[in-house]
Amino acid sequence: MSRDSYRDFADVYDAWQMLYPRAFSLAIAPRVIAAMKEHVVPNTVLADLACGTGIFPLWWQKTHPSWSVYGTDLSPAMIAAAKRAAKEETKQATTPTAGRAAKRTPKQATKQAAGGRTRRTPTLLVQDMRRFALPEPAGVVTCLFDSLNHLTREADLAQTFRAVARSLAPHGLFLFDLVDELAFPEVFTGTSILDGKDLYVGIDTHYREDRGHGIGEARFTFFRRGKSSWKRVEFSIRERCWFRGEVREMLTSAGLDLVRLERVDPYRSAEFFVPRTFWVCRRGRD
Ligand SMILES: C[S@@+](CC[C@H](N)C(=O)[O-])C[C@H]1O[C@@H](n2cnc3c(N)ncnc32)[C@H](O)[C@@H]1O
Repeated sequence: MSRDSYRDFADVYDAWQMLYPRAFSLAIAPRVIAAMKEHVVPNTVLADLACGTGIFPLWWQKTHPSWSVYGTDLSPAMIAAAKRAAKEETKQATTPTAGRAAKRTPKQATKQAAGGRTRRTPTLLVQDMRRFALPEPAGVVTCLFDSLNHLTREADLAQTFRAVARSLAPHGLFLFDLVDELAFPEVFTGTSILDGKDLYVGIDTHYREDRGHGIGEARFTFFRRGKSSWKRVEFSIRERCWFRGEVREMLTSAGLDLVRLERVDPYRSAEFFVPRTFWVCRRGRD
């Protein structure tokens, strides 16, 4: 991503995610929790890479108030949106059903921090995942919703895996999803339309092969209801198809052991077809 390609996305991102049964990162959260139950986590520090508008780190902090939570993203606009959301949630902590996460997770949102005590908020940082660094070792690093597919060069993915290995405490977990060769061409072929009361989204996807690997482009056209008229916003994102075999090799070279790999589609519905692979990795012994 040379310029901030998510700059125009930041304002509409959450509204777009709410057109799905749940935001993607929250729909896949049960997998994250299951992996953490199955494999003991060395500490209670979680870092979400490419966290976007902070949906996952904010939710994690809310549901795990004693944890130290970080959210990092390359896009200053997405991190600014995450900070606004964090501020809003802190402000609304005394009105449990009014916050952003309340809309996403009604059951969880009713859980409140103990009355009157200051709520902990995630630390939100503008950082490139290829070079991110945390002030403390993490027990868990997550990277959700195709964020790793946004890296289109092998050197960048390998560099990111090395940065993850450096940031994890011994035996820490690295949990992420990817669109791999089994789903990529299908995910990036065709057109879809989503509509809500105040938002229409048209998504045109295109798939092509470039020097032996698949590249997908998704062009978004948003119509958002303003005070007196509809506002049109357009932008596109580009992703690379990563093959399972090459990802596995790069993980191993970075010192990350693959523990489990599974195919998932968190919405399990024909209307919302979002197939991914979910990877559970662990930092190997030094
Ligand atoms: C599809 S969004 C996912 C956001 C969030 N994880 C979620 O689940 O809603 C992809 C995100 O990856 C971020 N991104 C792309 N390249 C990045 C990089 N090199 N380092 C950090 N973030 C990056 C974008 O800014 C964007 O916020």
